[in-house]
Amino acid sequence: MTTLLKFLKAKLEDLRQDRSIRYDLIKDIVEYLHEYADKHHHPCEDIIYSYYLEHRKDEKVADGVHKLAEQHIKISALTEHLCDMTEMILMDAVVPQQQYIDALDEFLEIQTNHLNYEEDHILPALREELTDADWQAIIALLPYDGIDDVDSLKELARKSDPLFGDNVQERYQSLRENLGA
Ligand SMILES: [Fe+2]
Repeated sequence: MTTLLKFLKAKLEDLRQDRSIRYDLIKDIVEYLHEYADKHHHPCEDIIYSYYLEHRKDEKVADGVHKLAEQHIKISALTEHLCDMTEMILMDAVVPQQQYIDALDEFLEIQTNHLNYEEDHILPALREELTDADWQAIIALLPYDGIDDVDSLKELARKSDPLFGDNVQERYQSLRENLGA
């Protein structure tokens, strides 16, 4: 995720300096984020967050968790918007450069803030407060069959991630090479 955001930030800078960029790669990234993060990763986080909200009482953490869940909705909408704009450019439709720069900028800002807040504040708090029994209960709520512990969940994530996982999907092959990942 950080690799993708870094890549997009560099592309944003290229656009600001009026350098040309490969929109096909941007499209792959945004599509990946929409397909994988918005549809799989975030819903899993949302399940963890709502479990926390139901079972824990630390109000500061609960506020943060609430905020993150709301941001997932906004991120999904911004991702879709950026995806549409990128597709239009690839189809040679006229999209004002400044409009595209603004959309990419807004997208990157919310994604970066979201990730930092999650990693610096919320995930450490959840790790501290949730017990093994809690994680067991959360795993049972996830929409996957045959997953009964954190390790098998991690393995599933590794296998099913179409870009960074063990089996890179053909459509992401070129992106993966260009990311140098
Ligand atoms: Fe998140």
